[in-house]
Amino acid sequence: MASSIRLGVNIDHVATVRNARGGLLPDPVRAAKLAIAAGADGITAHLREDRRHIRDDDIARLKAEIDRPLNFEMAATEEMLGIALKTKPHACCLVPEKRSERTTEGGLDAAGQQAALKPVIHALKHAGIRVSLFIAAQPSQIEAAAALGADIVEIHTGAWCDALAEARAAQAEAEWKQIVSGAALAASLGLEVHAGHGLDYASAEEIASLPQIVELNIGHFLIGEAIFEGLSETVKIMRAAMARGRGSIKP
Ligand code: PXP
Repeated sequence: MASSIRLGVNIDHVATVRNARGGLLPDPVRAAKLAIAAGADGITAHLREDRRHIRDDDIARLKAEIDRPLNFEMAATEEMLGIALKTKPHACCLVPEKRSERTTEGGLDAAGQQAALKPVIHALKHAGIRVSLFIAAQPSQIEAAAALGADIVEIHTGAWCDALAEARAAQAEAEWKQIVSGAALAASLGLEVHAGHGLDYASAEEIASLPQIVELNIGHFLIGEAIFEGLSETVKIMRAAMARGRGSIKP
């Protein structure tokens, strides 16, 4: 029997809307609590260097006020490491960050940046924080994540989701194959496997059928749908989609 699959709700874009107007509303911490009440297993938030959505006090409030694991997404910089060590979230997901990008466009180059990543991973683990690396499902990146002592890899599903959305069937198939083999390789190396970026109900259902994947982190689609359906309902529909995908795994 495959293990259950967790849903981490990324509330960054509640903060994006708040920041568009300034002030305090809508409150991302309220969204986090609502998502948890509706069935989210954890909350994900990305404190970007330019603070375009989540701000420092959001991270502190999330840590203090939510009763589920906080997954703190961060670039591997000295500043973010200091905030992580002070906040002590359940997990830190190291992501690449470019100032000009609209979202996290590619995976972390774990293979090419081992020297820079090693001390950050070491410091986080030493503080008892689980470390996740957000990488493409390429063997070289997965092997580097294992060699670096990461606990988790989060597979970047953005290219697969984009190909699905744009009906580029051959590319979607190629990306899917890479995700399937990458998840198997990562699990065989003892890494916990998560996935995220660009997921919607259909792609979350499909990827939940991979038994190695134990957590999905989903933001933009859920917050967008919440405008129409409400956040609680949206989280519930997503949970149901993931449960259908999980249930399709043959024993
Ligand atoms: N996982 C990571 C590491 C991310 O950087 C993001 C985007 O912030 C997500 C998951 C969620 O992606 P989306 O907002 O497209 O669902």
